[in-house]
Amino acid sequence: MIVARTRSELAGAQQALRRDGARFGLVPTMGYLHEGHLSLVDLVAARTDVVAVSVFVNPLQFGPSEDLATYPRDEARDLAMLEARGAHLVFLPPLEEMYPEGPPAVRVDPGPLGHRLCGRYRPGHFSGVLTVVAKLLGLFRPDVAVFGRKDFQQEALIRRMVSDLDMGTEIVAAPIVREDDGLAMSSRNSYLDVEERVQAAVIHAGLQAALARFREGVRESEMLVGAFAEVVAAAPLLDVQYAEVVDRWSLESVEVADERAVMAVAVFCGKTRLIDNVELG
Ligand code: PAF
Repeated sequence: MIVARTRSELAGAQQALRRDGARFGLVPTMGYLHEGHLSLVDLVAARTDVVAVSVFVNPLQFGPSEDLATYPRDEARDLAMLEARGAHLVFLPPLEEMYPEGPPAVRVDPGPLGHRLCGRYRPGHFSGVLTVVAKLLGLFRPDVAVFGRKDFQQEALIRRMVSDLDMGTEIVAAPIVREDDGLAMSSRNSYLDVEERVQAAVIHAGLQAALARFREGVRESEMLVGAFAEVVAAAPLLDVQYAEVVDRWSLESVEVADERAVMAVAVFCGKTRLIDNVELG
């Protein structure tokens, strides 16, 4: 496995690995890897010849009162996990290498989709995500890039950016990987204390309750959200920031759920903000 920390090391590694028209796959991450990330590595490995992973905690996507300083990091563990999983190339750029001129003056505007769901509560977040992903796609020029479905709005926006701006990389969405009790895997789960960790699993239970109502024939979003809220109300450490039924392409709230409907939620568990979603249709 080649580890590159600078753009020139990355260019050298790509030259060495891009022989004979090999197909290149990229898994962008912010590190502190878990089985969810590793499932993305497996997905890329099944579709391409060369698996590249980037590990970069991108300051542009954190708000001033968010957890940039405390975001969990463990480079040695990440590298060992990636090597064991068969990654060929890991890019670990320091901040100056990604943003040599400081924060970029020109950024990707997510448009109206960026103001829905999480975007309402995290101004600038999706512009930061799209800007760094655009840079990574530019640096790697991968044939395929993979993103986890847990970050449903992020995946939708990246897909739209690549399509609207003709960026030419195939975007693949990977299923959510969950702990045994249903909690979606996330690097931020490491913030939870023992009691919070137990209650955090109720988020998934709430989504499953909404899905069960949808499968019984309930289509009114209000009732589906109500089914979620009722379950979550039993866990006092959970505080719902939003729970919405949206169209998976436009991300607009819908009053009546159809085959394209997704329920997306953001819930505080203590001080930790967790997101999750379920495809209803
Ligand atoms: O999902 C993440 O880990 C990040 O938002 C991403 C896509 C790597 C961009 O920093």
